[in-house]
Amino acid sequence: MNIGGTLIAGPAKGPLQGNITVPGDKSMSHRSIMLGALAEGLTKIEGFLPGDDNFATATMFEAMGAKVTWLNDEKTALTVEGVGLFGLQEPENVLDAGNSGTAARLITGILAGQDFHSVMVGDASLHSRPMARVADPVRSMGAKVDGREGGNKMPLSIRGGKLKGINFVSPVASAQVKSCVLLAGLFADGETTVTEPKATRDHTERMLPLFGQAVERVDALTSRLKPCGKLTAPKDVVQIPADPSSATFFAVAASLVEGSDVVLNSIGINPRRDGWRRVMADMQADLTLEAENTVGAEPVADIRVKSTTLQGMKVNPQDIPDAIDEFPVLFVAAALSAGTFILDEAEELRVKESDRIATMVAALLACGADIEEKEDGAIIHGKPTLKGGVTVNAHGDHRIAMAMAVAAQKMDVEIRIENASAIATSFPSFVDLAQNIGMNVRWEET
Ligand code: S3P
Repeated sequence: MNIGGTLIAGPAKGPLQGNITVPGDKSMSHRSIMLGALAEGLTKIEGFLPGDDNFATATMFEAMGAKVTWLNDEKTALTVEGVGLFGLQEPENVLDAGNSGTAARLITGILAGQDFHSVMVGDASLHSRPMARVADPVRSMGAKVDGREGGNKMPLSIRGGKLKGINFVSPVASAQVKSCVLLAGLFADGETTVTEPKATRDHTERMLPLFGQAVERVDALTSRLKPCGKLTAPKDVVQIPADPSSATFFAVAASLVEGSDVVLNSIGINPRRDGWRRVMADMQADLTLEAENTVGAEPVADIRVKSTTLQGMKVNPQDIPDAIDEFPVLFVAAALSAGTFILDEAEELRVKESDRIATMVAALLACGADIEEKEDGAIIHGKPTLKGGVTVNAHGDHRIAMAMAVAAQKMDVEIRIENASAIATSFPSFVDLAQNIGMNVRWEET
């Protein structure tokens, strides 16, 4: 499919309607490859997200000796022939994490436990993102990590080896940091505990037991891993549920466009990913759960969304990690609501694929929104519509591009969204699926 760099998005021509199945969860797709590569035996995976971020993870593990076999053209089904916990080989070349913070940070934990040297690079966005948050704890476990700014910026050079377990109290609420330390803990002498300031997504803790490695939940903020010395490929297929972070774009679009009625099929509703639904419920969105079920170790449900007038709200800081990737499109919901939306304590948004506070404020202001930037969030006064006829910049950030495509559905005329090709990192089929439910969005012909 043709992924160009500029999206043209315009007012919806009518209500959004239909059933939509979004691709597999990005976080879990990464983890399925990582654990599959470290396991003994053949791991079968279905529902994998065929996004560039996840391909980067697959390629890095192939470079270290794991064998990935794609089972369909869409690259949603695959097997990973693992090398066992101590079977990775020193990569001959640099490892490239591309745009993916999750790949870079989780793999740092794995590389920390390897008796070899590796260098990991990424794209310009990833090279600007903080890495001390993972370099520091794995150093205290015994790995040698260096990089620009004393190891805070990639490229990172990692000489792993014998690790010792630690009790790590994380200064940031980050599942990437927690997962990095827990994965390093697989290779350590003794147990490793991680305590976080706020609970974050727990896919690592849920997926490791499928591979025979228990993770004890000490309390809501602390997990403990006693390494059992090996991972074993699950007998059952590892099923990846649909990504709630991708579903949220359509949930917001359907809420905003009058007369819409859209069903999002079998979406992950893990409470640690479900913050977007709590925020939207507070905004009085019309969301109904249907057909609740379980996929692998994760709860899922169909989510029916009907349009309504959204109201204002103040985001509970406890909910921020549970909706951390959804704020770009939640800002759009707020900008088109009938109330005032207040977000603070969300400074983490500044170190995502772009500075998501600055990039969303700039894009929404250009479209006439009433939005005030705060150091750690924003105050947004909603309006019934926004103005189009402008070019906005997604700054190479997939979620900014998709969020602005949603905003455009409620404009008077279309907008151009430049630097949007990064949509391929997490949601390559976004434009096709959006068109299927009636959204007005297309790639600009080059
Ligand atoms: C992720 C954790 C989040 C999220 C990212 C995926 C993960 O990052 O923003 O898209 O898979 O663990 P932080 O944990 O650093 O907030």
